[in-house]
Amino acid sequence: MKIVKYPHPTLRHKSKPVQRVDAELKRIVAEMFELMYEARGIGLAANQVDLPLRLFIVNTAGEPGEGEEQVFINPVLSRPKGIAEKEEGCLSLPGLYAPVKRPERIRVNAYTMAGEEIDCELDGLEARVVQHETDHLDGVLFIDRLSETAQLAVADELDEFVGMFDEDRELKLIPSDEVIHETLATWESKYC
Ligand code: CO
Repeated sequence: MKIVKYPHPTLRHKSKPVQRVDAELKRIVAEMFELMYEARGIGLAANQVDLPLRLFIVNTAGEPGEGEEQVFINPVLSRPKGIAEKEEGCLSLPGLYAPVKRPERIRVNAYTMAGEEIDCELDGLEARVVQHETDHLDGVLFIDRLSETAQLAVADELDEFVGMFDEDRELKLIPSDEVIHETLATWESKYC
């Protein structure tokens, strides 16, 4: 398992709700935490590891053994309040940072791996991470939410990501779109 980088097609895939949690999914989530910590991240969505599952993980402390490891399955956001602008980054766009405006507070409903309901109001960094990761599950990236000025500022960096992706494709390090979509469909038939 590895973190896929922009413009990998799975990052644009809209995830379907997860219907079952089994031992394999628990192993997948544990591996996602390892990858997230290695990459120095604080959140990671399943489609960032090439899986079409509607779940993401968060630990705002960003360190194993610190903070709280949270898994949000089938998240639904509601009641956005206020607006805050902060710089964001993304493990699928390493090294790229830009300011993003989002609601300051949000309510999230979701499920844990144990099937318990999550229902909470978030603000600050937690609210931002949960919105960023929920966007991922809908195939939305933070670069889609930039002001025109910020978009222009990152355009060259995005071109570089596209160039690196095309090179990897030519080297057959990344499968064809067809194979990627077939693999996603197999995962969906198992869990969604
Ligand atoms: Co991200």
